[in-house]
Amino acid sequence: MSIYRERRLLIPFRSALLPQIFTDTLVVGTGVAGLRCAIEAARHGDVIVLAKESVDLSNTSWAQGGIAAAIAREDSSESHVRDTLDAGGGLCDPVAVRVLAEEGPAEVSRLLDWGMRIDRAPDGTPALGLEGGHHRARIVHADGDATGHELARVLVERARATPGLRLFDRCFAIDLLRAGDGDPRIAGALTWHPRHGLQIVWARAVVLASGGAGQAYRETTNPKVATGDGIAMAWRAGAELADLEFMQFHPTALYVAGAGRLLVSEAVRGEGAHLVDRDGRRFMEGVHPMCELAPRDVVSRAITDHLARIGGSHVFLDCRHFPAGRFVGRFPGLARMLAGFDIDPSRHLVPVVPAAHYAIGGVRSDLDGRSSIPGLYACGEVASNGVHGANRLASNSLLEGLVFGRRVAEAVARDAHPDVRPRAVTSEVATGRHGELDLADIRSSLRSAMWRNVGIARDGERLEDVLGMFGFWGRYGMDEVFDDPSGWEVQNLLTVGFLMTRAALARRETRGTHVRTDAPASDPAQAVRMGWSIDRDGPRAVDPAVAASSAGAGR
Ligand code: SIN
Repeated sequence: MSIYRERRLLIPFRSALLPQIFTDTLVVGTGVAGLRCAIEAARHGDVIVLAKESVDLSNTSWAQGGIAAAIAREDSSESHVRDTLDAGGGLCDPVAVRVLAEEGPAEVSRLLDWGMRIDRAPDGTPALGLEGGHHRARIVHADGDATGHELARVLVERARATPGLRLFDRCFAIDLLRAGDGDPRIAGALTWHPRHGLQIVWARAVVLASGGAGQAYRETTNPKVATGDGIAMAWRAGAELADLEFMQFHPTALYVAGAGRLLVSEAVRGEGAHLVDRDGRRFMEGVHPMCELAPRDVVSRAITDHLARIGGSHVFLDCRHFPAGRFVGRFPGLARMLAGFDIDPSRHLVPVVPAAHYAIGGVRSDLDGRSSIPGLYACGEVASNGVHGANRLASNSLLEGLVFGRRVAEAVARDAHPDVRPRAVTSEVATGRHGELDLADIRSSLRSAMWRNVGIARDGERLEDVLGMFGFWGRYGMDEVFDDPSGWEVQNLLTVGFLMTRAALARRETRGTHVRTDAPASDPAQAVRMGWSIDRDGPRAVDPAVAASSAGAGR
């Protein structure tokens, strides 16, 4: 497996031959966390934000459900904390959860000040939705089921109007660069643009907000851009990663042969949809007191267990008992999407199956997003700050991006990094020896292997087999030099898939998002987060209490 530890940079280059740009803060990613961070950081200096594709293509803009926040008069951050901890399978950092719940409502108010249009009740108060694991309706939503789209609109408009903030679209971050030989600080990134080619962006601080890694799985609700680039880049740079074994599987992705696994929001169950099998049986009854509104891990597992028992490839959402016009009124986007497949939820069952949805693990970061390397920060899905534990509570992710995106920007300003200086960097990665590779084949093979073996149900033997496959693919895939994102994405997917599998093998117990069929119970002795780094052979226990009190450790 050493190939995944040898590769420190993906391509050969000489900085002296490349255009070099300077900024105070470089943010990689234009989802909610990246844009919120960039807008705040621009109050303290210049900011460059990189979007791998167009600025508005991210998991954020695809989000349906909404933003969880305790803003109702009868709600409390205390109750939001409790629900988040209950869902988190014993691995949440309680301090991080409290920060999220307590600072969340102010972030929602700020969005409203910035012009976000949310759905409102007839009396003008925010219309709040209910989702799995929440004991109260607290999900702020927009245009029914297009919250992410509206949130992205507001943040992109705000970012575009912010002086000192530059948005670069179609700009791929390949690798992180250090401040100097012998100076461990991260001080920039090597980037590639289809028109401008390679260039270096030097910065006093680099913030990874590059999203998740759903594309490591064949069945995923994530857009094509979610290839784990930030996680892989941080690994190559030597940053500590954590919680990589926890990939969250959303219980209800549309199951139509040939179609992508389009999300059917948890909010549909919040409105009262039932989960039924092909015989019309509500199988969640008796599984959990909250039935269809149990936390996500419980529902996803119940679906796979039930299918294993009765056979078949999918179950159904039944909304036929909704009052007339209710589905299309509350979920206009979903109704349109389903109509494209000739499904009318007022008359038909909606076929659904779990799919990879949210990478809980990522770059280990403290309460202010500091990674283990000075100058490198992370927020949003790419970060692992303990807020989600072993299973994320529904609709906590947009909130996390808002709260921790802002906190990172404030920490970057407080940490007062020295001025950035260009330095000569020469990367001498040797070009590969394997001739032309079929990238599409590697990509699809690894995604299938991950789905079959590193999914909701896993066991040690199959995880060992998959590690063997990663060893094989890595020998030629990682040993190659590519000259555009299609190759770098495959190398990042290989790296992230390998790391997730290794972490899954190391956690010999059932917890949160997954079941170990060879260790079906949770083991109290393993109730600890695991951290990994390229410089270490094996995991390190990440104590939530230590992470919580270590603000500043990465400075
Ligand atoms: C959903 O609408 O079900 C997705 C919300 C989330 O991922 O938290």
